[in-house]
Amino acid sequence: MNITRNEVAEWLLMDNPVKLDELFRIADRVRYEFVGDAVHLRGLVEFSNYCARSCQYCGISVNSSDVKRYRMTHDEILDCAKKIKKLKYGTIVLQSGEDWGMDTNWMSELLRRIKQETDLAVTLSIGERKDEEFEEWFDAGADRFLMRFETTNQKLYEKIHPNLSGKVSNRFDILRKLKAIGYEVGSGVMVGIPGQTLKDLENDIMMFKELNLDMIGIGPYIPSPGTPLYEEKSLKNIVPPTVEMACKVVAVTRIVCPRANIPSTTALATLNGVDGRLQGLNCGANVLMPNVTPVKYRELYSIYPKKSALNEEEGGFSLSKWLESFGRVQGQGRGDSINLKYR
Ligand code: 5AD
Repeated sequence: MNITRNEVAEWLLMDNPVKLDELFRIADRVRYEFVGDAVHLRGLVEFSNYCARSCQYCGISVNSSDVKRYRMTHDEILDCAKKIKKLKYGTIVLQSGEDWGMDTNWMSELLRRIKQETDLAVTLSIGERKDEEFEEWFDAGADRFLMRFETTNQKLYEKIHPNLSGKVSNRFDILRKLKAIGYEVGSGVMVGIPGQTLKDLENDIMMFKELNLDMIGIGPYIPSPGTPLYEEKSLKNIVPPTVEMACKVVAVTRIVCPRANIPSTTALATLNGVDGRLQGLNCGANVLMPNVTPVKYRELYSIYPKKSALNEEEGGFSLSKWLESFGRVQGQGRGDSINLKYR
């Protein structure tokens, strides 16, 4: 399906509800045709909330001095991996802040153990590291890497994601590097960051295509009390940080990048509970990331308030039954991106 930059811009502007329903239906059909009805489940383990960054939107930045810091042990993470296996999810996502106390070897050993003891695909979502580390961890068994570029608006990016002294971060270069190493690569943006425009989102979507991403995560920006961006008065909200706006971006992204794996994100669910997640799945998304972080750590991983946690262990909730109630099925196996074959 071909869609021009102008059409992308038009859809982003659209606020006629009848037309928007049409957009969501088109995206849902494209999703069905390219990636089918399977919803791949990724078990999310937030293994460390240490972070060296001072991102202005994030509740666990280095400046959030009242956050109690933790790093899970290998055994604790392995227990999560086994739980993920039991739930028949194909992937473990290891997510953390940019934790410089986590050294190269620590991660390599963890990856080798996960690979020895399970057949899960492993996704890293741990921020910016050295090229040599990306290489070593790929060799140790990591399959995929997620790193959102957050926005293509360079000025806005530099404001909300300050460089570390003496180190310029270029996430586009890093994403290309990860791909060259052999990772399945994911990125994404927040929708409704103060100061962000629809033109920026249009550029973001064109950038997803240019980077030929295998995975694309899109969620509404959620103001996090106590963070600099929450207090900021000079940047106005232009794009609404709503479920509907984020769903529009998901839908257009599905049409532009039909083979990508696209999650219905935690941030979507945080604004609108299970409903937000369902809306994402109905307008182009084909992945869910249930949180399997041990409960005692979960509230410490507070990147924004009231973060939703989709999980099956408590309350007898069955994700596969829920998916089947609206005509979808739990994905089998690792759920690799079909885009890999086309790069
Ligand atoms: N609102 C929404 N998403 C956020 N993230 C971090 N802080 C927020 C927030 N306040 C997202 C970023 C990051 C991902 C792990 O979580 O896009 O890349």
